[in-house]
Amino acid sequence: MKITVVANGPLLIDTKGEWSWTGEAGKTTGKDRIALCRCGASGNKPLCDGTHRKIGFTAEGGECELTPG
Ligand code: FES
Repeated sequence: MKITVVANGPLLIDTKGEWSWTGEAGKTTGKDRIALCRCGASGNKPLCDGTHRKIGFTAEGGECELTPG
C-alpha cells in the first residue's frame, strides 16, 4: 500500500483496490484511493474535503510504502 504525503494537502492512500473505507454512517469511500485530512480543518474528518486549500495549509510532501511483515 502506497501512501503519498501531498505537499500542502492530505495523505493519499493508494489501496490498489484491496482496501476500502467505511465511515460511521456506513458510507464506503474510494476503493482505489483514499485521502485523509492532514490539516485538521476538514468538515468530513478523517477524510479530506479540500478545505486545506481554503485555509492555506502548508507542509512538505513525500512518499512511503507499507508492506506486509
Ligand atoms: S488535508 Fe484536505 S481538508 Fe485537511
